[in-house]
Amino acid sequence: MALLTWSDKFSVQVRQFDEEHKQLMNLINQLHDAMKAGQGKQVIGDVLNGLIEYTRRHFAAEDRLMKAQGYPGYENHKKEHNQLTMTVMDFQKGFAEGSAILSQTVMTFLRDWLTNHIQGVDKEYGPFLNGKGIT
Ligand code: FEO
Repeated sequence: MALLTWSDKFSVQVRQFDEEHKQLMNLINQLHDAMKAGQGKQVIGDVLNGLIEYTRRHFAAEDRLMKAQGYPGYENHKKEHNQLTMTVMDFQKGFAEGSAILSQTVMTFLRDWLTNHIQGVDKEYGPFLNGKGIT
């Protein structure tokens, strides 16, 4: 069973970001599947790198749009992005230097962080951006 499943409750009412959030969920599911299947370190490392790269691009896209539109929650939101980026880079470093598996704790953290972030601060920008004609 997938670790994360998209549903309407995750919609932020901005199409581009809904699509990107779906892709992030797919990547976290792929990472989870690769670990459950006992894939080698190279495979898991590649999936983890892909997840981090995609996350960085997604955060940058949200940051850019919030800033360009003068969104009042921009600074706080960007801070959450920066914190998560630092945390996952620590995971990546630990993984590269150590064991060939990521713990269930890491997967649970990623799942919970993503769902809480989307349903929290991400959803908050929806009405503001919709008001600017961005849907
Ligand atoms: Fe969709 Fe703020 O990350």
